[in-house]
Amino acid sequence: MSTPTKDIYILGIESSCDDTSAAVIKNGKILSNVIARQDIHAKYGGVVPELASRAHQQHIIPTVSVALEQAGISKHDLSGIAFTRGPGLMGALLVGTSFAKSLAMALDIPLIEVNHMQGHVLAHFIEKEGEDKVNPSFPFLCLTVSGGHTQLVKVSDYFDMEVMGETMDDAAGEAFDKMAKILGFPYPGGPLIDRYAKEGDKTAFTFSHPQTKEYTYSFSGLKTQFMNFIRNNEQKNAQFVEQHKADICASIQDIIIKVLFAKLKKLAEAEGIKDIAIAGGVSANSQLRQELFDLGVKKGWRTFIPNFEYCTDNAGMIAITGYHKYLRGEFVGQDITPMARLKI
Ligand code: KG4
Ligand code: ZN
Repeated sequence: MSTPTKDIYILGIESSCDDTSAAVIKNGKILSNVIARQDIHAKYGGVVPELASRAHQQHIIPTVSVALEQAGISKHDLSGIAFTRGPGLMGALLVGTSFAKSLAMALDIPLIEVNHMQGHVLAHFIEKEGEDKVNPSFPFLCLTVSGGHTQLVKVSDYFDMEVMGETMDDAAGEAFDKMAKILGFPYPGGPLIDRYAKEGDKTAFTFSHPQTKEYTYSFSGLKTQFMNFIRNNEQKNAQFVEQHKADICASIQDIIIKVLFAKLKKLAEAEGIKDIAIAGGVSANSQLRQELFDLGVKKGWRTFIPNFEYCTDNAGMIAITGYHKYLRGEFVGQDITPMARLKI
């Protein structure tokens, strides 16, 4: 008689920046994904690390409790705890890491460290019970675009990832947020640019395409170009931004997306890879999603666009990465420490 296999429940914890999140995965299927956002940073125009750490301290216990409750399990059902080790803000990472270590010790279950950027990529493997979903096949390319990173990653297996190109200065999300700040929008401004762009004409204003080597990106020159463009126009007409908000947003969004796709297309051709994915907070952008889909049709690619809740920071992606590490028996000890800079 065969013995029934034991269900595997992984709790994921994410606290690398300004979202406190907890999620539960059962045998690879997501049961809950709870995100507590920190609105406090909006008025400061960016994430204030000290405030982020304090808010994580306040949010972590209720967030984990709700994630367990929504999953319909008790903490005693957990098989392992996965947490974001880095990259991210040190104070913020310390909260999630310390919490995960304590809970794993108290429950005497394995502790699993997760690289946040691997998590964004592996978010593509999150599945729901009963869902008929097609996952990317290895090897695939993933354009990971977030507030802190812009990477072109060749994914040969779950934990065999190679960064083929990245930004030399600002990340794509940072470019969105900095340009939004110039326009007077609150942080994070990326989603607002996306919203206004829908009403605008993307050919209204033109910006020059940054020239960078191979598969690398650069957005800081574009930001300076944009700052000068706004300043010059405001000198002539103080109402310039107010009167042309939608066209400005559509035009700047369009150039950022053109820059992102130019290198992605080049790399896909060079590698002969046709499974193409996007990940990270900026992959929530509506034009980016639509253009990847259109590009896929034109180039014969299979394209993979994550659900909105798995684009921006979330613990579901940490839990699924933790699940695959659990299957491989990749655990860490209580001496583990977070790392603000952690490479894939
Ligand atoms: O992945 P994420 O939640 O956090 C980091 O790991 O950085 O990404 C946050 C970034 C922010 O820069 C935010 O402005 C951007 O993602 N973002 C967007 C959109 N939604 C979020 N940028 C453009 N359009 C959006 N719809
Ligand atoms: Zn992220």
